[in-house]
Amino acid sequence: MNKFKKILVTGGLGQIGTELSLELINIYGSENVVITDIRDSLPEKLQDKALYTKLNVLNYEELNNLIKYHNIDAIYHLAAILSGKGEENPFACWDINMNGSMNVFKTSIENNVKRIFIPSSMAAWGLGIPKQDVPQDSITRPTSIYGVTKVAGERLCEYMFHKYNLDCRGIRYPGIISSETLPGGGTTDYAVEIFYEAIKNNHYTSFIDKGTVLPMMYMPDCIKATINLMDADVNKLTHHGDYNVAAFSFAPEDLAREIANVLPAFTIDYKPDFRQAIADSWPQTIDDSCAREDWNWTPEYDITSMTKDMIAKLSERFK
Ligand SMILES: NC(=O)c1ccc[n+]([C@@H]2O[C@H](COP(=O)([O-])OP(=O)(O)OC[C@H]3O[C@@H](n4cnc5c(N)ncnc54)[C@H](O)[C@@H]3O)[C@@H](O)[C@H]2O)c1
Repeated sequence: MNKFKKILVTGGLGQIGTELSLELINIYGSENVVITDIRDSLPEKLQDKALYTKLNVLNYEELNNLIKYHNIDAIYHLAAILSGKGEENPFACWDINMNGSMNVFKTSIENNVKRIFIPSSMAAWGLGIPKQDVPQDSITRPTSIYGVTKVAGERLCEYMFHKYNLDCRGIRYPGIISSETLPGGGTTDYAVEIFYEAIKNNHYTSFIDKGTVLPMMYMPDCIKATINLMDADVNKLTHHGDYNVAAFSFAPEDLAREIANVLPAFTIDYKPDFRQAIADSWPQTIDDSCAREDWNWTPEYDITSMTKDMIAKLSERFK
């Protein structure tokens, strides 16, 4: 049986929001999923399928009215500024990530919203973490403003649960790789761009350097993890907004090798930019045993199956 009656997605036209919205529509029906974003128009795959309202999460009045109007009982709050864009404008990043989330908390408390999902990120870590198998309970000393907002978001989820009995859940997503929507300005965006360039030009110049191993996940696993955590029994959860999840880890040259296995003419070179420093502060692998125990998390894709699927999907689109 479906867990919720009416769902709101903020940032619903972003990299994760687009595919999450499509899956929620599959499960709940298009009349029960209200998609919002600050963008003007819907991508083709959501047109005619979705209830869409343009909404800035910083506008409390509009957010509150929308939640009342639709009688929303669950929110996937994905509107955010990511790590790369955040470093270009730290004050805007703080404003949107923190004040947007506070608006979501406040309106949820006022309107008895049953459950909220707010993603965290591996950017919540930083200085002093082990590079390998970073544990569930590990210190969080991020070096980016984005990471600072993610740590604050994690702590707020826990605070809101204890103070207001507001059931807030979140995952520390690794870098998310997807074929449908382009990423919105993060440090792991190279692992998506590389596929587009491989198919169009047989070559990619990576802004992340050789040897930089980072945790990644393919979008179908990201969507599965997100929905499974939201559906999990609250009594089984030992954490709130900060679940570690992992799928696979690789450096740019590992991904290049996998791509060349499918597209033999593919080559790569490296021109690291400011995002290299962010990547250097992140772990290489993550211990996600807590998510596996609490809500049965298991990924389905590895680097090879993800690469084959990405190339098949993008080749079909660009042929
Ligand atoms: N994609 C990843 O690799 C990744 C990794 C870790 C965590 N996350 C987290 O997942 C969530 C979604 O990320 P994404 O990759 O889909 O990002 P994205 O940038 O692709 O999408 C974010 C969406 O939010 C919208 N938005 C920005 N400001 C807004 C505002 N003021 N009001 C309403 N909407 C606004 C944007 O238009 C965009 O469509 C974010 O919280 C992000 O921090 C993503």
